[in-house]
Amino acid sequence: MEEFLGRFLTDFAGAASTSMTVLGDRLGLYQAMTGAGPLSAADLAKTTGLHPRLVTEWLAVQTVSEYVVHDSAAGTYELPDAHAAVLSMVDSPAYVIGAADIIAGQYLAMSDLEQAFRTDGALDYSAQHPCVFSGIERFFRTAYVHQIAESWFPAVPGLVERLERGARVADVGCGHGVADLLVGTTWPASTVTGFDAHEPSVAQARAKAIEAGSPGNVSFRVADADGIGPGPYDVVVFFDSLHDLGDPPAALRRAHEVLAEGGLLVAVEPWSTDRLEDSVGSPVARIDFAASTALCTPGSLAQPGRYGLGTQGGPAKRLALLTEAGFREVELAADTGFNLVFAATK
Ligand SMILES: C[S@@+](CC[C@H](N)C(=O)[O-])C[C@H]1O[C@@H](n2cnc3c(N)ncnc32)[C@H](O)[C@@H]1O
Repeated sequence: MEEFLGRFLTDFAGAASTSMTVLGDRLGLYQAMTGAGPLSAADLAKTTGLHPRLVTEWLAVQTVSEYVVHDSAAGTYELPDAHAAVLSMVDSPAYVIGAADIIAGQYLAMSDLEQAFRTDGALDYSAQHPCVFSGIERFFRTAYVHQIAESWFPAVPGLVERLERGARVADVGCGHGVADLLVGTTWPASTVTGFDAHEPSVAQARAKAIEAGSPGNVSFRVADADGIGPGPYDVVVFFDSLHDLGDPPAALRRAHEVLAEGGLLVAVEPWSTDRLEDSVGSPVARIDFAASTALCTPGSLAQPGRYGLGTQGGPAKRLALLTEAGFREVELAADTGFNLVFAATK
C-alpha cells in the first residue's frame, strides 16, 4: 500500500505541477527566464508584468519540482538551458511543452467525457477546447521539424528520391498543416495537399501558409478522409491521424484508390505495443492512452464508422489494416520509441 501510495502521490504531483507548467508557458514565464541567468522573483514579475506574490509562489513550485534552480543565499532562480530546451526553446528537438496543453484539454473536457462514458462513447473532436488543437500543433511540430526529413521519410524505401524528383502528396487529417508546410519547403519540386474534416483547423493551416509566404506547392482542403481526391497521388500520408478517424479501413481504401500504381502510403502513429503488458509503466504509453481515452477514441466514436482504433493497440493491428486495404510491401519502417512509421505500396 505504501509503495502504491508513493507512486500515486507522484502522479498527483505531476498533475498538479503540469497545471503550473501550462501557466508558465501561457504567461511567458519560461520564455522570460530563458538565457536570463539568475533572477529574483521581483525581477521576473517586473519583466513579465505579473503579480509578484503569485510569481514567487510559482517559482517555488518550479524549484521543488526541480524545473528551476534556486540560490537561497542570493534569493535568485535560474532556468538551466537543458530545461529551457524542453520548456521554451521552440526549435529544440526536446521542445514538448505543447503536450501540457493537450493534457489541460483532458481536464477541460471532463464533463463531456463523463457524458460520453455514460452514453454512446462519442465526443466530437471539434468539441474539444481550442488549447488541444494548438497543443497538438506545437507538440507534434517538434517531431516533424526534427524527424520527417532526418529519420521518418528516409526509413521508407524510395520516398525521399520521389519527393526530390517531384511527387504529388496528400496528407489525411492535416490539422494545422505544419507537416505539410515542412514537406513542401523541404522538397519544393513536390506538391502537398492537406485534407481535414475540421474546418477551423484547415482555416488555421491556410493562415500558417500565408505566414510562411504562401508557398505555391502547398494547399489545404476541407474533406473527410474517405473523400479525399481527386488524385492521383504518388504519396498519401497520415501524420498521427489514422487512429482518430471514424473509419480507418474506408480511409485506407480511399487512399489506395487515389494513389497512382506503385504509389506509397506512409502512416505515422504514436508508439505502442501489441501486448498491453509490454507497455506497463511506460510514461509514453500512459500519456498516449490517456489522450486516446479523452480525445482520439471518443472522437472516432463520434463519426460514421465509429471504429475506435485508439492511439495505442500496437503495430500488428495497423499492419493488418494496411494489408486488408489492398496494399503490398506493408512494413513497420521505423520505431522511434515515440512514434511508429508504417509504409506500404499500392
Ligand atoms: C491528432 S490530429 C493530427 C493533426 C495533424 N496531422 C498534425 O499532426 O498536427 C488528428 C486530425 O485528424 C482530423 N480528423 C479526424 N477525423 C477525420 C476524418 N474523418 N477526416 C479527415 N480528418 C479527420 C482531425 O480533425 C485532426 O485535425
